Amino acid sequence: MPKITFIQEDGKELIFFASSGDTVLEASRKANVPIDAPCSGNASCGKCKVRLIKGELESAVTRHISELEYADGYRLACVSKIHEDVEVLVPDISSAYKSRMKITDLSSENELAIFEETRQNIKAAGLDLKNDWHVITCFMDIPTLDDTMPDNERLIRAVKKVTGFPDIHIMIPFSVIRILPDILRNNEFTVKCVLQKKKDCVILYGIYPEHINPVIAGIAVDIGTTSVSALLVNLENGEILAKSSAGNAQIRYGADVINRIVESCKPGGIQNLQKAIVDETINQMIDEMASFAQISRNDIVKMCIASNTTMNHLFLGINADHIRREPYIPCFFELRNIKASDVNVHIHPNADIIFAPNVGSYVGGDITAGALSSMIWNKEELSLFIDLGTNGEIVFGNKDFLMTCACSAGPAFEGGDISCGMRATDGAIEAVKINEVTGESVLSVIGEMKTKPVGICGSGIIDLVSELYRCKIIDSKGIFIDGNNRVTRDAFGMGTYMLVKPEDSGTIKGVFINEVDIDNFIRAKGAIFSAIKTLTESLDMKMSMIESVYVAGGIGSGINIKNSMNIGLFPKLPADCYHYIGNSSLSGAYASVLSDKVFKKVVEIGRNMTYIELSSNPGYMDEFMAACFIPHTDINLFEEK
Ligand code: FES
Repeated sequence: MPKITFIQEDGKELIFFASSGDTVLEASRKANVPIDAPCSGNASCGKCKVRLIKGELESAVTRHISELEYADGYRLACVSKIHEDVEVLVPDISSAYKSRMKITDLSSENELAIFEETRQNIKAAGLDLKNDWHVITCFMDIPTLDDTMPDNERLIRAVKKVTGFPDIHIMIPFSVIRILPDILRNNEFTVKCVLQKKKDCVILYGIYPEHINPVIAGIAVDIGTTSVSALLVNLENGEILAKSSAGNAQIRYGADVINRIVESCKPGGIQNLQKAIVDETINQMIDEMASFAQISRNDIVKMCIASNTTMNHLFLGINADHIRREPYIPCFFELRNIKASDVNVHIHPNADIIFAPNVGSYVGGDITAGALSSMIWNKEELSLFIDLGTNGEIVFGNKDFLMTCACSAGPAFEGGDISCGMRATDGAIEAVKINEVTGESVLSVIGEMKTKPVGICGSGIIDLVSELYRCKIIDSKGIFIDGNNRVTRDAFGMGTYMLVKPEDSGTIKGVFINEVDIDNFIRAKGAIFSAIKTLTESLDMKMSMIESVYVAGGIGSGINIKNSMNIGLFPKLPADCYHYIGNSSLSGAYASVLSDKVFKKVVEIGRNMTYIELSSNPGYMDEFMAACFIPHTDINLFEEK
């Protein structure tokens, strides 16, 4: 058996005996060495580069490795077979995930305003945003030989007296029982308690010395296929204590939900994917946010997850395979009674984890939570809610009806599947304008003034493709028209447009877009547009009847609606019909973690949505093909009216 030595960038080595003919990627997975593989080994993404240090690999030629890189030892792990002993250098992607993690200092008013707006809208719709959380101080008699009541009963008696709930069952979780004897005696039987009153019981989540002022905290999490975002909030007053975002560490098992499910079906796969999202992503975000807010993880007593159906199955370690197989049946739509300790989430072990409900295999809790914050369920006007994520999900309707569908857009809107793509964070180009005479471009970059661009986020890609088309640098199929001095072609004939030269950027490669990137993007925008058209026409309605459009997703707040219509991503409507509502899934999870009433509303929205399966709709594929042009094969759809 050939020996492969994986050397990490920090010098750590791991030796594994592979089967002859295994690829480096296969061996790395067996050896549990993480290698980024968004296309799950299809040789299409080019992200699984490793560097051969010793020995030889049988490696196919690929456009992702230049001649220079090949000579330097670079190989794609997924197309390099092991036949002899080798040593390979692998990038340390776990620290890459960590460095992609961002904790906000909450000074950005724009970031917070969107959550405040959700709260206000929900309040205005008559939903109460408070729950029955209390911090009480309990004074107990010190036990004597004449008063031998055990500690737990003594505490229960005191809680009943202070709360005035004499007949209710008081539940003390084991995490409190375990510390009870010491904390009572160290504080002369005067303590503070954090508790929540439920319909038929009171749960005592925490016990503290009298001088401590405990925070009652909750967490709202949006688990996206590409990115994960979270808010740490004060459950008493709704204050946001910390905000965090990070790449989903599952991405090394594939960029989209289908590849993740395929990986989860391999031996040990479900555990690997659950570990990637729970341990490597969410628990790390919790640690960072708790330390930023200076609270204990044990103070976090509730969590709300909003995510697509596959993500919430894999988070729970549940077999997701039936989601991708006809007749596409998930294990659950609604789920209750999950505790943090059931899934090893590092918060209070008895914390309830609630899930925004799924509606179908490809319309999940991210959409029910997002639909809540879009408020379309409370409006008279015909409205469209679009979530531009790795899956594009669409809800159409108003207060009387809600129809929904999903399409596989791929990760292009979140910067995936694009050579220089990135999330909308510091260093991302979020807007582009090209001067058609001089060819010069004006860019808007996220971050402080003078931040050098390192990549391009979804809104920037929309602008760039729109501008390249307007300036006749690409044709309607996204192919470069020869003659532009920023366009080069490689040995395979693939064209690349250099937007920012290496010396003007914050990376050694510069910021560019090539024909494969543009093709990926055109497919993504074609999927969204054709889904909108199919959904509205399935109700015998026209797209022109849509009165309001709410656009959500991590695409970047600088989304240019005019350009989005010009390239055929969105239907041609008056620009003021469109509203960008940020990460609506996270806003919905935030409101749901604060209030049981709001959570009930999300459940009701989910139950009232009618799900349309596009893959079984006979016209959808034709619509998709027609939409894979800029802007569309039917140009009449995009003419100024
Ligand atoms: Fe190897 Fe994508 S190219 S995993």
